[in-house]
Amino acid sequence: MMNEELLIEPKVTNEELLIEPKMTNEELLIEAKKARIHAYAPYSHFQVGAALMTKSGKIYHGCNIENAAYSPANCAERTAFFRAVYEGEREFEKIAIAGGPEGKEADQVCPPCGVCRQVMMEFCNPETFQIILADGKGRCLQRSLKELLPLGFGPENL
Ligand code: THU
Repeated sequence: MMNEELLIEPKVTNEELLIEPKMTNEELLIEAKKARIHAYAPYSHFQVGAALMTKSGKIYHGCNIENAAYSPANCAERTAFFRAVYEGEREFEKIAIAGGPEGKEADQVCPPCGVCRQVMMEFCNPETFQIILADGKGRCLQRSLKELLPLGFGPENL
């Protein structure tokens, strides 16, 4: 015998309960590797992907974008930051970076360049912001921005 009273439609009463859990470092690295596929690197053939996580858990992807005039090239990390900042984001928790020569598994990690570290310094707390790096062999490295940019110059210094 069916009990009709048990056949109630499930109802969501509290939308706030539907927040997606934040990504782990491993999941964020997978996003960085996915972003790497979008790299435009016809000159260096060095493809980089980045996945930037806001404090609310939202992910912004970036890839490196090169240029025939060379110097206008933009790194993957800055692409991710600039996309996020354009969308109004100002609070960031961590970034995962995956890069290496085109068509190969990277045999070493790809640390962010000095310019990208400086851009991070503009928007992130160097003590808490985390940078997660991985090579193509499953080895990972995690450092705070302060570790990668000691005594950095930021908005607090003005
Ligand atoms: N590149 C990045 O996108 N991120 C890094 O962390 C290091 C270097 C890019 C810039 C250039 O397009 C290519 O990699 C080779 O330097």
